[in-house]
Amino acid sequence: MNPISTTAYWTLIARIQDAEAASPLCGDYLAKRFSSSESEQARAKFGQLESAAANIVARHRIIDDYLADRLRRDPSVLVVLLGAGFDTRAFRFGGGKWVELDENNIIAHKNALLPATQCPNPLTRISVAFERQPVEGVLSNLSGYGDSGAVIVVAEGVLLYLSEEQVECLINGVSAAFPNASIVCDLMSAEFFDTYLRDVSEAVRDNQSPFRFLPKQPTAIFDRNGFTLERCDSIPSRARNDFTTVRANAECGYCVYSFFAAQTDHGSMQ
Ligand SMILES: C[S@@+](CC[C@H](N)C(=O)[O-])C[C@H]1O[C@@H](n2cnc3c(N)ncnc32)[C@H](O)[C@@H]1O
Repeated sequence: MNPISTTAYWTLIARIQDAEAASPLCGDYLAKRFSSSESEQARAKFGQLESAAANIVARHRIIDDYLADRLRRDPSVLVVLLGAGFDTRAFRFGGGKWVELDENNIIAHKNALLPATQCPNPLTRISVAFERQPVEGVLSNLSGYGDSGAVIVVAEGVLLYLSEEQVECLINGVSAAFPNASIVCDLMSAEFFDTYLRDVSEAVRDNQSPFRFLPKQPTAIFDRNGFTLERCDSIPSRARNDFTTVRANAECGYCVYSFFAAQTDHGSMQ
């Protein structure tokens, strides 16, 4: 198994715990469907990392809000969830045409427990062996999927695990396949990681899946590849509003960003 796939169970656990809370932030009522021995192992190992879980849930909510806004304005938008993990948005949102890409073991688990055929929106799930299949090729095969032309590619909790070269291939693959796409992703600075995530760092060390893409200036790679920053939302700020366990006082250093692939004026999302 791609070692990064294990991390899909960490984010799943955070959303299951959120859904069980008295006042959930995301309220992903479908997350618990994916409970398994793997997710219980993840709960035993990471369930106590409350601050990290709060950031994961806050990140998901920021992206939920962004997608809800875009879908309200254009219900036919194509949403590509790259490294979808146990994302259930295709089932929870009204509208959108959805594509979920992930490793075969994740896709098979999802198909067994929440079949794509039961989705209220058009949903295609595609297995990708990320370690062997260049992501640019996978994305170019999808270029005919969008009806309205509007495309959003979500890479949530993904870029952190890739090398700089892989990130560059991925974002250029997005702009080549979908010249007018928005890409939504979280980016973390090295300074933020060193300051606030030592406990997570310890926990991931024996998982063979260390965080790799921790640039000094998170948006620089998008700037030099011709992307235009659309908006940026601080994850710890959002988490601090809703959870008492978040220690990070930083406003920036770990944010959800959206960028336009083309340097055109698509209107402000603010
Ligand atoms: C931390 S999980 C995030 C899952 C989901 N997006 C979420 O937020 O819950 C990282 C996901 O990236 C997938 N992945 C692994 N290698 C990848 C690659 N090279 N490109 C894109 N996704 C990858 C993993 O299989 C895993 O599902």
